[in-house]
Amino acid sequence: MTSTTELAVVILAAGQGTRMRSRTPKVLHPVGGRPLVGHVLDTAAALDPHRIVVVVRHERERVAATVAELAPGVVVVDQDEVPGTGRAVEAALDALTDFDGDVLVLSADVPLLEPATLAGLLDTHRGGGTAVTLLSARVDDPTGYGRVIRDDSDAVARIVEQKDASPDEAAVGEINVGVYVFRAAPLRDQLAHVGTANAQGEKYLTDVVGLLREARLGVAASLTSDASAALGVNDRVQLSQAGLTLNARTVRRWQLEGVTVVDPASTWIDVTATLAPDVTILPNTHVLGATTVAAGATIGPDTSLRDCEIGEDATVTRSDATLAVVGPGATVGPFSYLRPNARVGEGGKVGTFVEVKNSVIGAGSKVPHLSYIGDTEIGERVNLGAGAITANYDDIAKHRTVIGDEVHTGSHNVFVAPVTIGDGAKTGAGAVIRKDVPAGALALSVAPQRNIEGWVEKNRPGTGAADVAARARSTQEAADGS
Ligand code: UD1
Ligand code: CA
Repeated sequence: MTSTTELAVVILAAGQGTRMRSRTPKVLHPVGGRPLVGHVLDTAAALDPHRIVVVVRHERERVAATVAELAPGVVVVDQDEVPGTGRAVEAALDALTDFDGDVLVLSADVPLLEPATLAGLLDTHRGGGTAVTLLSARVDDPTGYGRVIRDDSDAVARIVEQKDASPDEAAVGEINVGVYVFRAAPLRDQLAHVGTANAQGEKYLTDVVGLLREARLGVAASLTSDASAALGVNDRVQLSQAGLTLNARTVRRWQLEGVTVVDPASTWIDVTATLAPDVTILPNTHVLGATTVAAGATIGPDTSLRDCEIGEDATVTRSDATLAVVGPGATVGPFSYLRPNARVGEGGKVGTFVEVKNSVIGAGSKVPHLSYIGDTEIGERVNLGAGAITANYDDIAKHRTVIGDEVHTGSHNVFVAPVTIGDGAKTGAGAVIRKDVPAGALALSVAPQRNIEGWVEKNRPGTGAADVAARARSTQEAADGS
């Protein structure tokens, strides 16, 4: 059986990516919450190869660091100053000197190919017994891609790059996806014969195809049925196309797993997020990073979650949250802002125009309106009145506010940390709480109200306010019969 042939995967990631016009190396630009090269590493790993080799050069340290982080144990090799995909593969083969199996070459800028497509390409290659089997696609606009040139009997003759193509060749609609399976030995032999006499002065991997054909070693192309997955990302237009295609695929996958996505076009789900069945995603919602959403939860509309944990049957409406935990049955929003380490307990509530940072809101506790809660621990079944502010910062350091169970506070309170409110305590409206409140106490800090009669008529004579006040006073005096 040929299927026991060893497999090595080579990922080309050394190019400059000039057309991105970016400080960030092209292969580190993300789609679906993961860098382009990360998608290709995942696809490679899914094939369970004996070796994976990534070739780097441009912004070497950044690319190598990302590869090491995403796929520890993968071999990273350096390309020298000779440019071109052929040279990159030569560098990879230097790290595979003892290897004599099949070499699958992938481009780090072709991120959407699925493992099944590549497994099919491998099967075709091994069944065909050729020296190379390349993946091709028919696209509406082949501009920029290498074209697959076939002879009169429709057999693959060679690949010609866009910049080297005659008008007739440029009119060909079958493109080279940039993905190939080679037998290692003939690849090594023919690469030695590839020069740089072409429009870009590069050592093209694609030239090996024509050389193998001339050497009568067998060349084949396998046409993929999913041309959208063949997209190569060279500029930011193609980057957004890749993001769109990937997102449509991700949304569809979760829909088939039982997630209701009302509007796929305005819903963005990173490949790293996890959703349970019976989650509902309303329009204009972003589920990003390592976010997990448990069964029955409703997210959106107009909501962004990054690296959050959302509990069963929770609701998050028109809100923004990062690194927050929302307990089962809790409600967040509309218009809440949950910052890192905000934790809303089971059945809790964070309401309208409320910001929470590094705080625990206990089970069944509510912060319903217009509040800032930072560095705070709130017990269970607490209700904070509208406009609660924890003053956690005294210009030098951050301090904690601790609020016990069953505490009810009046509207518009300021808690000047560090401060502790005991279980069951209450506070009056407008209180500024600077000292600890014992359990069960009522804390008042506002002076009794004083009314100074006739102040407006005396101090603001001739104003509209003084006129209507005078009229109201005389009406009142007449009614009182004085
Ligand atoms: C390449 C193919 C083209 C194919 C297209 C598919 C060649 C000569 N051309 O063109 O036929 O249609 O991909 O998307 O191969 N790279 C290196 N070292 C280099 C240059 C590039 O590692 O010296 C890497 C890049 O990082 C990238 C990949 O190889 O991941 C492709 O390079 P790129 O310059 O984008 O080639 P294309 O012009 O797109
Ligand atoms: Ca490319």
